[in-house]
Amino acid sequence: MKIGVISDLHIDRYNSETLKQKDFSLTLANEVSRQALDILLIAGDISNDHIRSYRFMQALEQMTGVTIYFVPGNHDFWNFSGDAKSTRDIYEYFKATKYFNDEAAIELNDEWVLVMNPAWYDYTYASERFSMERLAKREYYGGTWQDKVKIDWGMTDPEVSSKMAARAGQVLESVKDKKIILMTHVATNKAFRVPMPHRLFDYYNAFIGTSDFDSFYDTYDIRYSVMGHIHFRHQVTEGDTDYVCACLGYKREWPTEDIVHEMRHAMQVIEI
Ligand SMILES: [Fe+2]
Repeated sequence: MKIGVISDLHIDRYNSETLKQKDFSLTLANEVSRQALDILLIAGDISNDHIRSYRFMQALEQMTGVTIYFVPGNHDFWNFSGDAKSTRDIYEYFKATKYFNDEAAIELNDEWVLVMNPAWYDYTYASERFSMERLAKREYYGGTWQDKVKIDWGMTDPEVSSKMAARAGQVLESVKDKKIILMTHVATNKAFRVPMPHRLFDYYNAFIGTSDFDSFYDTYDIRYSVMGHIHFRHQVTEGDTDYVCACLGYKREWPTEDIVHEMRHAMQVIEI
């Protein structure tokens, strides 16, 4: 079984003549077919709007027949279509689709399961010189972390992280005899932090990842931990776990201008 992993497509970041949303779906569809993938995992941040993200997956599925699983990223919660949905409603919206389920594991075959959970940042990846109160302001050097204005969970970020981790823990407990692929959006390993000291990321690393998943790697047989959010393309092995970050990222971050090349380079393939 061939499983492709990609994240942070940000299909609506550029609405220019040179890069349209269709370019993302067509290029990704071609890559899915070229690799003969059975399953595609998208680790969040398809777009800045839940409906657009959902339609993208529908279109991709129709074009390729591939089975898609997805965890919403922080951007997918931004609600640019401006309907009345709250962050919580958008979460429920994604849960009502067949692409996302954080309440039960997906059986991939007799041995392997997929566990999906967006995870949330808990500020523990920042430099210790900042207090939690300072980080909770989500403002630094005149810049504002945009989730502050675009997302409202009705609780603090560390509380959201803790709740999401608790749910992930329940699902993992139900599949403790299985080999597990865990898919999150935010990072669950500090190796994916922006190296510090760093003028901005000493602060902004706060919003990169969570420590609430740490104990899961000792307790459960997580062979692959797939994530997005950081816009690096990285793979790290620790113990029996391969941590995979397969971010496409923003065009300005790409080494080349060529979406076909970049999509191919970003996608990682897991064979089980
Ligand atoms: Fe992103």
